[in-house]
Amino acid sequence: MASIFVTRKIPEIGITKLKNAGHDVVVSEKDGVLSKKELLTSLSLKPYDAVLCLLTDTIDAEVFEAVPAAKIFSNYAVGFNNIDTDAAREKNVVVTNTPGVLTDTVAEHTAALMLSITSRIAEGDRFIRAGRYDGWAPLLLLGTDLKGKTLGILGAGRIGTRVAEIAAHGLGMKIIYYDIKENEAIESAVGATFKKTVEEVLKEADVVTVHVPLLDSTRHLINKERLAMMKQSAYLINSSRGKVIDESALTEALKEGTIKGAALDVFEDEPKLSPGLAALENVVLTPHIASATEETRGKMAEIAAQAIIDVLEGREPEHRVA
Ligand code: GLV
Ligand code: GLV
Repeated sequence: MASIFVTRKIPEIGITKLKNAGHDVVVSEKDGVLSKKELLTSLSLKPYDAVLCLLTDTIDAEVFEAVPAAKIFSNYAVGFNNIDTDAAREKNVVVTNTPGVLTDTVAEHTAALMLSITSRIAEGDRFIRAGRYDGWAPLLLLGTDLKGKTLGILGAGRIGTRVAEIAAHGLGMKIIYYDIKENEAIESAVGATFKKTVEEVLKEADVVTVHVPLLDSTRHLINKERLAMMKQSAYLINSSRGKVIDESALTEALKEGTIKGAALDVFEDEPKLSPGLAALENVVLTPHIASATEETRGKMAEIAAQAIIDVLEGREPEHRVA
């Protein structure tokens, strides 16, 4: 029997899976993110063999050293920028993530963000609840059509490709994309056109949606200069990682009308928002819930648990990232 530490309550199905495999599972009792100190203390209470961690946990060399017996850190997320993978390799710790299962869910949320900002759904909802609705009016809350418009995708991986399918097949949008390499899957799925630079996408697109991982090379991929290259009528959507966008530059651009609107599920310094962002009407904000459906969060729990079971039983896990 191995001991496994889970850094926060996750869907029960994952915990049950670990217990059914014969393991002792300790779930953090704190209703919130463990601070670094709390995490180190929790990990020192037992010689844990594995850790199931979250994207809100910063996992670095100090953490690996606090659990020297741990063979695997299974990250309950597709993004794993919270884990120092070089340190993991150095300490011979396996790191896994949960890709694939959340692709459709995140893409659907991304489409919802896009429609919400272009159809002014959240703004209209606020308007009614504030008691300001006094009847139909020809010029009330005019939005923007998407049919025939160009969607620019930055990062044509699984999620970007699924967003392209929804936008092209469901909404009749034209797709252009930038990625570090050309992706034939997105081209054959929706006739997407590859652009050699981020700038070309920004200049042409009516809506830009970001689906890159957070890396040194993608930090502030969207900055003040690049916001200024976008059409004044364009919208920016982000369901990837907050740090990919310079959020204070975006707040400024939204205030000044450099671009028309934005819809964001992720923030540069979560859960904090850039000063002034939440006061703007031309931005839709959701609290990092793009993968948060009952179905998907359950499947993520099962995949994260399976990775631990595989490693503890000496098998290569399916989604190894270090
Ligand atoms: C969510 O942001 C994830 O990376 O799974
Ligand atoms: C993440 O799953 C991606 O490849 O888009």
